[in-house]
Amino acid sequence: MTEKKKLGRNQKDTNDDMINLVDNLNQKDDLKYNRRAFLKTAVGTSVALGAATIPFSVKAMLGIAEKDYERVEIAKLSDIPEGDSVTFYYPTESDPALLIHTVNGDLKAYNSACTHLMCPVFYEKTQDVLLCPCHAGYFDVNNGHPKAGPPQRELPLIEIEVDNGIVYAVGRQYRHG
Ligand code: FES
Repeated sequence: MTEKKKLGRNQKDTNDDMINLVDNLNQKDDLKYNRRAFLKTAVGTSVALGAATIPFSVKAMLGIAEKDYERVEIAKLSDIPEGDSVTFYYPTESDPALLIHTVNGDLKAYNSACTHLMCPVFYEKTQDVLLCPCHAGYFDVNNGHPKAGPPQRELPLIEIEVDNGIVYAVGRQYRHG
């Protein structure tokens, strides 16, 4: 075997420089086109995924509930005098909630797990507020917003309806992430 033939298996015979040069050009082109195809696919996929989430983003921005909530009976209105409240669970058995008949005669309902560390809040009628006893967190009974203490977020609002003297829960609104 000549010296030339002892070259490595992948090394080409350098006599044919033009062919090697063309091979190198082709390799570079291949890389360039593969990279371009990959980028096109990646960008296309991102755009498609982004477009697919638009309906959800619009719903979230408009505060439209994504799910249909059941209509669930809470209590007879005649059983809740002004200044009183009743506990219930909504929308599931693991979501404690409170229906309040305020001292001013309004009906309000919220999930009752404090947005600080989940202790149950209760209606404190002498001050007309929702109070979390764990760390003295206060919420406005009119809108569920925190008023004092550690809680930073509103209580989720339970939408209610009164029909024939019965109070029903019909939906829930998270007003804050
Ligand atoms: S858990 Fe309600 S204030 Fe801390």
